[in-house]
Amino acid sequence: MKIGVLNIATGKYKNFLEPLFLSMRKNFLINHKKIHIVFTDDVNFVEQMTTRLGIESCVIEIERKGFPGDTLYRYHHFYKSKERILSLGNNKPDVLYYIDADMLITGEVGEEILPTHHKKIIATSHPGYHEISLGTPETNPDSAAFIPVNKYRPCYWAGGFNGGSFEDFMVLSETISKRIDDDDKNGIIAVWHDESHLNYYLSEEKNLSKVKTLSPLYCCPEYNVGNKFHNPMIVALDKNHKEVRE
Ligand code: GAL
Ligand code: MN
Repeated sequence: MKIGVLNIATGKYKNFLEPLFLSMRKNFLINHKKIHIVFTDDVNFVEQMTTRLGIESCVIEIERKGFPGDTLYRYHHFYKSKERILSLGNNKPDVLYYIDADMLITGEVGEEILPTHHKKIIATSHPGYHEISLGTPETNPDSAAFIPVNKYRPCYWAGGFNGGSFEDFMVLSETISKRIDDDDKNGIIAVWHDESHLNYYLSEEKNLSKVKTLSPLYCCPEYNVGNKFHNPMIVALDKNHKEVRE
């Protein structure tokens, strides 16, 4: 199985890629070939780094939009690159994962995260709400991400780590991008940006049964390690948001 790892890394976020990639080499689906697909405003930097490390990559230039544009339009970038990724030929990934750049793989992540015949979409239960509540979905009925309070959902999913089969992840990306375009036309930005739209998409009747939900150990904030959660597989690094977004 060929794995495509998607990252958005504009501005200072590009500095997170090297440690992430090294931790993936050591701990992430190590029995499978991986290609790192990076969306960045500094193609040279990323190409030089992946070449130096001997990491297979496909680096795609995007314009930096800052916050929240860089996060909000991630699914647009993925969907718009569909042909480019397909043109990788033999290197074309069968499975795609998006992971935030400021994460590290700290435990052995194996085949438990792969899509299966019935569960073709992979998402992570949000560490802040797991077994506590249904999180913070969009509550504005004018948004395309609006989820009514009584709508059945197993959990609130985190935006930081998700994936699926190539085809299913591209359908998800296309659908979410179109809904974000609709919100844009109405001057609306959903409360948690792309994450709100992801939650809407995953909780739709036709998608719910296709979702394999991973525990929050696959998206665990560094500040929760050793207290709320122990031995996480994937850690979201503590950072000064203001500093890196500048
Ligand atoms: C925060 C997290 C945000 C968003 C939010 C949703 O803990 O930092 O990225 O997921 O929860 O309520
Ligand atoms: Mn993050």
